[in-house]
Amino acid sequence: MNIKKLLGYQVLDSRGRPTVAVTITLSDGSLHTARVPSGASTGAHEARELRDAGTTKAESFYAGKSVYSAVENINSKIAPKLLGHSLNLAAIDGLLVEVDPTPGHQVIGANATLATSLAVAKAAAHASGKSLVRYFQPEGALLLPMPMVNILSGGAHANRSLDIQDVLVVPHAASNFAEALSWIVAIRERAASDGKAHGVTHLVADEGGLGLSFPTTDDACEFVLSQIEELGLSGKVSLALDIASTQFFADHKYSLTTSGQVYSPDQFVEEILDLVTTYPISSIEDPFAEDDWASWSAFAASAPAHLQILGDDLFTTNLHRLERGIAEKSANAILIKANQNGLLTSTHRVLDHAHANNFATVVSARSGETEDSWLADIATSWRAQQIKVGSTHGSERTAKWNRLLELEATEETEFARPFKAL
Ligand code: PGA
Ligand code: ZN
Repeated sequence: MNIKKLLGYQVLDSRGRPTVAVTITLSDGSLHTARVPSGASTGAHEARELRDAGTTKAESFYAGKSVYSAVENINSKIAPKLLGHSLNLAAIDGLLVEVDPTPGHQVIGANATLATSLAVAKAAAHASGKSLVRYFQPEGALLLPMPMVNILSGGAHANRSLDIQDVLVVPHAASNFAEALSWIVAIRERAASDGKAHGVTHLVADEGGLGLSFPTTDDACEFVLSQIEELGLSGKVSLALDIASTQFFADHKYSLTTSGQVYSPDQFVEEILDLVTTYPISSIEDPFAEDDWASWSAFAASAPAHLQILGDDLFTTNLHRLERGIAEKSANAILIKANQNGLLTSTHRVLDHAHANNFATVVSARSGETEDSWLADIATSWRAQQIKVGSTHGSERTAKWNRLLELEATEETEFARPFKAL
């Protein structure tokens, strides 16, 4: 079977912003579509997301966020190379690198390359008569990932109602995925109604989390912990924080806007150490800025052994940055976002390299998502052990949770328990 037609076009993400889709028509007449996500709290070292200048009339309606040029690159530069090609994902990803050998897909755009790479993977799965998850892992029990789920949102996703980006929960003691999700839904429901009872009006943030206002991170942690406790889940559900600190780091200072406090890097290391030793926090993401390597290593050297120190903006799913992090002992876990990288095969390579070096991996969605559920399949078959999709609210999020529930119901599975030490 081979590629008869490959078409790129613009669609909308969950924020109502343009993103790239690709539909492949195979020689058996079947169609295979993939859509790519898009971040808002993006790291400087991510692969390039190509967006238009907003100068033409058509572009101006999307205020400079349209992706017509990425789509044009797919249709004029990528499609002619792939027509008639057999469905070998690694070979096709190699061809995409030939089309644009610049690091980070600067010329044709990582949104163009990833949409193509994903559509090829889906088409290849079909050609081998398999689902995407079984294309990557043909045999054996599937390892369903532990969810890390957003309850409170702040930072760039919720109008900075809270300095840090997310307070999330990890149902680390759940015995299966369905049970894990039921605990999360209960916590979110309680948090939403308790927020209202306290007279706090909330917005639903970009990732579906609650945009409640709290003066300090401690207050936010205590609020979520009280919901966990009320449900009798203390000790079974831990907190995870995404500090997303690059967003408030400037002139070698961490400046919090809601509390008005300003910290030197050394002081901020102490502040974060204080936080993770005060509350039952299992994972902390981007506690320091994307190029403040010294603070990462200093923190990792004195952090509690059970703590997951997770690099998102620090690593941007980039092999070289991960290698540096391993060498400098900056962290012990990496967030895996395929669109930070631009190709499925090289994203997979980063994840494998992390595992080979005893780094944990968390496969992650973006704040701008689509109803596409490929993320659940790759997180499972690549044996990531953890997944982060935002909250349990919004169809672009539930598409992934529902796919995992489907896998648990229909396939031979086991549930990952990456936080056994807790
Ligand atoms: P983003 O945020 O998708 O807006 O970049 C998600 C995260 O920081 O984990
Ligand atoms: Zn992050």
